[in-house]
Amino acid sequence: MRTNHEPDLRFTPLSQPQHHDVHTDRPTVLVVDFGAQYAQLIARRVRELKVYSEIVPHRITAEEVAERTPAAIILSGGPKSVHVEGAPSLDPAIYDLGVPVLGICYGAQLIGQQLGGVVGRGMQGEYGRARMTRTGPSLLLPDDAPAEHDVWMSHFDGVTEAPAGFTVSATTPGAPVAVLENDERRIYGVQFHPEVVHSPHGMAVLARFLHERAGIGADWEMSSVIDEQVELIRERVGTDRVICGLSGGVDSSVAAALVHKAIGHQLTCIYVDTGLMRKGESHQVVETFRRNLGIELIHVDAGWRFFDALEGVTEPEAKRKAIGEQFIRVFEENTGGLTDAKWLVQGTLYPDLIESGGTDGTASVIKSHHNVGGLPDDMSLELIEPLRELFKDEVRKLGTELGLPDEMVWRQPFPGPGLGVRIIGEVTPERVALLQEADAIVREELRLAGLEREIWQSFAVLADIRSVGVMGDERTYGHPIIIRAVTSDDAMTADWARIPYDVLETMSQRIINEVPGINRVAYDITSKPPGTIEWE
Ligand code: XMP
Repeated sequence: MRTNHEPDLRFTPLSQPQHHDVHTDRPTVLVVDFGAQYAQLIARRVRELKVYSEIVPHRITAEEVAERTPAAIILSGGPKSVHVEGAPSLDPAIYDLGVPVLGICYGAQLIGQQLGGVVGRGMQGEYGRARMTRTGPSLLLPDDAPAEHDVWMSHFDGVTEAPAGFTVSATTPGAPVAVLENDERRIYGVQFHPEVVHSPHGMAVLARFLHERAGIGADWEMSSVIDEQVELIRERVGTDRVICGLSGGVDSSVAAALVHKAIGHQLTCIYVDTGLMRKGESHQVVETFRRNLGIELIHVDAGWRFFDALEGVTEPEAKRKAIGEQFIRVFEENTGGLTDAKWLVQGTLYPDLIESGGTDGTASVIKSHHNVGGLPDDMSLELIEPLRELFKDEVRKLGTELGLPDEMVWRQPFPGPGLGVRIIGEVTPERVALLQEADAIVREELRLAGLEREIWQSFAVLADIRSVGVMGDERTYGHPIIIRAVTSDDAMTADWARIPYDVLETMSQRIINEVPGINRVAYDITSKPPGTIEWE
């Protein structure tokens, strides 16, 4: 992914908060990561059941686990077979800590293998829906689930003989031991994936494990996150001044609102208005932060400087460079007066930390360029990252609880160089104004069609070619607007969104009727790869 403004970091972050030092009294479930994407989904499901969870690497030792006094442990699925050489394993002393353990898929097989049962080799496996039959009483499966019900499977090996002391409470055609339980040791395993929506009773299994077998209450809520963070931020910051660069995006907005709740006027936000935002967005940032939330906001209306810098520039990378440089300059000029600032707010999220290699405090990689372009050399700032324990959907919930409007909380990702990379050719104020109008129509029609939240990004692109058309009795020679809308999970890959024809038709008609100079609308049906989401 390209990043927006790309200076070297010019300030010194002094330390990272070690987040798990802080709340030792909060019941925490450790989700042990055995690879692929499973652990994140499990961790999120646990949080949906109002229990705080964290992901830990599978190399974690029993001592490290004991130190963190978890309320329960869940072993995730993984892409390997337990029989493969070098397959990830678990420190077996963890089973003796007396902490309740639930193994899922690969995790269940590990329990089988490590505690003395048998895991079959070269089994036929099951992929997708499977019919599971209960074979005896269970303290894990929900009482109201029918004796036979569907579960979601994805495995070829499986436990064929449960270890001594375990009972087998369900089977499927491809997994003789689909559920194994040892209530005395409070160790359980399920071959199926309770965390996916295709296992209709899956959440109830997780709930039963967490709330009944491990006895953890359903207490973790957004309001407690707010309270904890507010207290923590006050404690760390004292009477110091804090700055936050707002981009208009979800993460920096929610982070700023949370920090403001904690320390009020000690926070100063800086919003550099590049003139390249979508229609109405700059206004909304200023309205929300300054008027509604009463946050001290330096709104730098710098559009003209960006347009000056972009005059005559048509090559995409040159445009990005011009915008990035200008951004830093403007930012520096406007933070120059804040010499007493000691802290910088960043909207780092939990997945940013997991992806950058660990959640154990060693991953102090800073997502530097997204929220702030750069700061003066002589500033030494410590970071406040109040969202570093949260997933994106949780950040959205938090934003709503803090009173941010839906339009801000549900905002799509937006490139740092803004509409500058959605205008092919020279970027002028007139062309930006024109694109803003067309873009607003695309957004509005998707919202009216109720498609907004299914779509990862949707926008209009202005091309610098012209084509002939006819409107009324007159020949036109105007520019086309290209509509781009994609579905994606992470922007690394994307597919073009299958927007219904009638919605596209309304967009096309409205754009041509309402936006002067546009006489043609095209829909971009390129996936990524080979295309990128943005046009430049
Ligand atoms: P592409 O066009 O590379 O975009 O498929 C992938 C994602 O990144 C966003 N994007 C940017 N984000 N600064 C950013 O912060 C940028 O310069 C930038 N360029 C692209 C894009 O909107 C998409 O979500």
